Amino acid sequence: MMKVLAVIELVLLIVHHCAHALSRDQFPPDFVFGASTSAYQIEGAANEDGRKPSTWDTFSHSGNGDGDVACDHYHKYKEDVKLMANMGLEGYRFSISWSRLIPDGRGPVNPKGLLFYSNLINELISNGIEAHVTLNHFDLPQALEDEYGGWVSRRVVKDFTKYAEVCFREFGDRVKYWTTLNEANVNVVLGYDLGVMQPQRCSPSPLTNCSRGNSSTEPYLAAHHMLLAHGSAARVYREKYQGMQHGLIGFNLLLLGFLPQTNSTEDIMAVQRVQDFSIGCFMNPFIFGDYPDIMKKNAGSRLPSFTQKESNLVKGSIDFLGINFYFSLYVKDSPGNLQKENRDCLEDVAAKFQLYLPNDITIPEVPITPNVFLRTLDSLRSTYGNIPIFIQENGQQTAHNSSLNDWSRVNYLHAYIGSIVDALRSGLNVKGYFVWSFMDTFEIVGGYELSYGLYYVDMNDTNLRRQPKLSAEWYSNFLKGKLMDPKITKETEKNASVLSHNPWLHSAT
Ligand SMILES: *[C@@H]1O[C@H](CO)[C@@H](O)[C@H](O)[C@H]1NC(C)=O
Ligand SMILES: *[C@@H]1O[C@H](CO)[C@@H](O)[C@H](O)[C@H]1NC(C)=O
Ligand SMILES: *[C@@H]1O[C@H](CO)[C@@H](O)[C@H](O)[C@H]1NC(C)=O
Ligand SMILES: *[C@@H]1O[C@H](CO)[C@@H](O)[C@H](O)[C@H]1NC(C)=O
Ligand SMILES: *[C@@H]1O[C@H](CO)[C@@H](O)[C@H](O)[C@H]1NC(C)=O
Repeated sequence: MMKVLAVIELVLLIVHHCAHALSRDQFPPDFVFGASTSAYQIEGAANEDGRKPSTWDTFSHSGNGDGDVACDHYHKYKEDVKLMANMGLEGYRFSISWSRLIPDGRGPVNPKGLLFYSNLINELISNGIEAHVTLNHFDLPQALEDEYGGWVSRRVVKDFTKYAEVCFREFGDRVKYWTTLNEANVNVVLGYDLGVMQPQRCSPSPLTNCSRGNSSTEPYLAAHHMLLAHGSAARVYREKYQGMQHGLIGFNLLLLGFLPQTNSTEDIMAVQRVQDFSIGCFMNPFIFGDYPDIMKKNAGSRLPSFTQKESNLVKGSIDFLGINFYFSLYVKDSPGNLQKENRDCLEDVAAKFQLYLPNDITIPEVPITPNVFLRTLDSLRSTYGNIPIFIQENGQQTAHNSSLNDWSRVNYLHAYIGSIVDALRSGLNVKGYFVWSFMDTFEIVGGYELSYGLYYVDMNDTNLRRQPKLSAEWYSNFLKGKLMDPKITKETEKNASVLSHNPWLHSAT
């Protein structure tokens, strides 16, 4: 009964969420507000100054655009940091391209790669912006994929640890926030079960284009090695660098809002199972030193087991959790999946998924569900304790060619930043918030056609001109301490015409 009531309350909350007025003062001064990007999605210069391909380069060259040029941030980083500073960003989350820094994945460090990231970090610091660095954002060096299959091989643990140590040693005097892997849970399912993102591994089937892989076993192997790689890098950081550099090390997961499709006990239990597989797969080892029981039961011997030593390495190895949140899904119990032979890791979950998509949404925009987000954070706290959390990505998707008056993004950001006020009030340990993305990027889904940027990047312009969208102005006003009233937002909507009327707005070329 309690659970049923909780579901009803939750549904009501989704419907009746009303945004409140927001201001930067509602957050502690040491809370960090920023924006995010990742290396392959913005840097370009893919074949310059010694960089070699990553698995993402390889995957994207098979169709749907590529990051060869992207936003050309590699050459324009100074201009970009200036835009960030003018906007009032307090932090900037970016990733280091492993194959730019160590082109073959292991072995010699590329001095030009080192110089680029060092310059970028210095530029941020001299503009008063804190660097939040991700070490691996879906771009494993292709050389390691070719040599031993990348994350499916245990050999990756040692190579990742050495790469991480180069970063701690070279940049750790200036970087205090390290995230080892981005959205490991997404990479495992999309890259090793469905084969729809790098490194495109999955079991052969008429519906997929994978040339190698095994969807029953490899997702679990990849997850296991990602956990060990994190644990091993975190140990090196703690033993050799943290005492001197006083930074923190964390791990990033995509959090989805999961809603039971019906109020049945079965569907409510399916939601719990989905959480155990998508979040528990990583968080249980980090907090308790082992996988959730339901994973062991449903995946059986396909799930690697931790030795005592490995368990000790992984347990307690995160100082914070990085969370990316975008949208919510309906979950339905699907027990029949467990009868399948050679079932894949998604079938082990025994659930079916459907996008939560009310009628009033104009695709590609996604519905705004901040209360589901809050509920999910709260449930993480009950299961894993009140660990420090950085929201490292959150943002609204629009068509790249849609208006610079991106009200849907403004409304989205207002609602989610507002929900963090509630999160803090309820005692949740949220330490920062980063909008995805600082500018339009080469997106994982949708390439250059779908965008999340606060800045529009004109991909047809030879200078790849950046232009602020309305959301950039909105976020800047918020960061500069203005009171952001949702009613004013609504009224202004009617009068929104051309952006150039606003004196704050300017484009940098
Ligand atoms: C995947 O691996 C399992 C366990 O080794 C094996 O039984 C199965 O046949 C493999 N599937 C494919 C498609 O290779
Ligand atoms: C497989 O490749 C073909 C040809 O490139 C493409 O049309 C199809 O969408 C791909 N299928 C998947 C599941 O990616
Ligand atoms: C759950 O039950 C309540 C009351 O009957 C109903 O209003 C609500 O829509 C149901 N939720 C779902 C997800 O079916
Ligand atoms: C935007 O691009 C899509 C294809 O990505 C196209 O179908 C649509 O017509 C374009 N809209 C405008 C306003 O140019
Ligand atoms: C970019 O150029 C292509 C080809 O000329 C055109 O189809 C597209 O609409 C242009 N996109 C924008 C955003 O101007």
